[in-house]
Amino acid sequence: MKTGPQTYHVKSFGCQMNVYDGDRMAELMSAQGMTPAADAKDADLVILNTCHIRERATDKVYSDIGRLRKHGRKPMIAVAGCVAQAEGAEIIRRAKVDVVVGPQAYHNLPALVASAAQGQPAIDTDMPVDMKFGHLPPRRRVPPSAFLTVQEGCDKFCTYCVVPYTRGAEVSRPFAQIIDEAKALVDAGAREITLLGQNVNAWGDESIDDNRGLHDLIAALDQIEGLARIRYMTSHPNDMADGLITAHRDVAKLMPFLHLPVQSGSDRILKAMNRSHSRDSYLRLLDRVRDARPDIALSGDFIVGFPGETEADFTETLRLVDVVGYAQAYSFKYSPRPGTPAATMADQIAPEVMDERLQRLQAAINRHQAAFNAASVGKTCDVLLERKGKLDGQLIGKSPWLQSIHLLSDAAIGDLVSVRIAEAGANSVAGVTA
Ligand code: SAH
Ligand code: SF4
Ligand code: F3S
Repeated sequence: MKTGPQTYHVKSFGCQMNVYDGDRMAELMSAQGMTPAADAKDADLVILNTCHIRERATDKVYSDIGRLRKHGRKPMIAVAGCVAQAEGAEIIRRAKVDVVVGPQAYHNLPALVASAAQGQPAIDTDMPVDMKFGHLPPRRRVPPSAFLTVQEGCDKFCTYCVVPYTRGAEVSRPFAQIIDEAKALVDAGAREITLLGQNVNAWGDESIDDNRGLHDLIAALDQIEGLARIRYMTSHPNDMADGLITAHRDVAKLMPFLHLPVQSGSDRILKAMNRSHSRDSYLRLLDRVRDARPDIALSGDFIVGFPGETEADFTETLRLVDVVGYAQAYSFKYSPRPGTPAATMADQIAPEVMDERLQRLQAAINRHQAAFNAASVGKTCDVLLERKGKLDGQLIGKSPWLQSIHLLSDAAIGDLVSVRIAEAGANSVAGVTA
C-alpha cells in the first residue's frame, strides 16, 4: 500500500473567504497529523485554493500546476476553491491533478487525499445542505486580526458574476456556532474579528427569529471579553438594514469602515448588471450611514468596460467616486465569464478602452485615498499591531479606518496601542505612540 502525503502546503488565490477556507483546510490537514511546509516545492501535497472571478485568476491555476510539475518532487496536487467548483472533472482531464474539491465540500479532503494516494483521482463538488463547518477541527493559532465566515453564497445574480454558480445559494451559519467560533478565535489570540460573507449583511438565523440580522450578531460579539474590534465584509447595498446602520453609531467595537461595492455610477449600466439598486439609492444609503457614523471610511468595488459602457456612463462612475470620496476602493476591468449573461451581451468593450478607463478610475481613487490619509494626520487612534515592518523596531497595524499604519514601538504584535497619525502616504500612514 502506498503511504499518503506527510507534508502539505496551501496556496490561496482569491477573496477573504477563500483565504479563510485555505486556513481551515490547513487546520484540517494538520489535524490529520500532516506537517505544513513553508514552500510548495517542499510539500508532498499542494492545495491550490483557486478563484474564478476573473479570467486572469483562473489562468493562474494552470500555470501554477505547470510550475509545480517542473520540480523533480512531483507533489500530489489538489485543486480547491471556485475554479474546482466551476470546472470540476475538466481539471482532472486537462491537468491530470489528483484531487478536485469545491468550496462547500473541503471537509472531505482527508478522504479524497487518501483515495488519491491509492492512485485514484478524487473529486467532490457537492454542495451539501449540511454545511461543512460542523465537520472541521476547532480553530487553533490565529493572527490578531482573524476572519470568520458567517454567510456563504449569493442569490443576486449580477449578470457578470460567477459567484452564485461557484458558491451556491445564500446560506447563513447558525448563530450559536458562530459565537462559539468567535470565542475560540479570541481564546486563540484574536483581538479583531472580520465577519465574512459573499453578502455578509444578508446573514440571518430564522431558527431564532425571522428578523435576526447581522447587527444582532455584532451585538453578541460586542459582549465577548477580550475581543476589541469587529468588522464585516462584503456587503450588498440592498441588504443594509437599519439596525446595521445604527450599529455603526451604537457599538463601540464596530470599526468605522464600510466596504460597499457599487460597480458603476451609471443607472443604465447598473440595470444591465442586474444590480437592483440605482446610483441615487446607493448615495442616499451612504448619507444615512454617514449620519450614523460621521467619520466612517468608505470603500467600494468598480468594474470598468462592462458591455455597452459608453464614455458618458464611465464619466458617471468618475463623478460618483468624486461625490463619495472613498478612503480606498478596488477597480477591475470587466472579464467575460463563461455561463454568465453578460458574456454574450452585444457591445463588448475593446481592451484598450478598458485599460484607459481603468487608469483614469484608479487615478481618481488614488487621489481620494491620498486625501483621506492626509486628512487623518493629527488624529489619535488605537492601532492593532499585526506584524513586524522592514525596519528595526518597526511594527505595522491597522487604524480603525483600515489604514495601514507603521510606527516604531516596543509593544508586541497583537497589542492595541494609542497612536497619533503623523504623516500620510499614498497607501499608508506613519504614526507615533501617543
Ligand atoms: N459579493 C460581493 C463581491 C464579490 S466579487 C459584492 O457583490 O460586492 C468581488 C468583486 O469582483 C465584485 O465586487 C466586482 O467588482 C468584481 N467582479 C466580479 N465579477 C467580475 C467580472 N466578471 N469582471 C470583473 N470584475 C468582476
Ligand atoms: Fe457577484 Fe453580485 Fe453576488 Fe456580489 S452580489 S457575489 S457581484 S452576483
Ligand atoms: Fe474568487 Fe470564489 Fe472568492 S471566485 S472572489 S474565491 S468567492
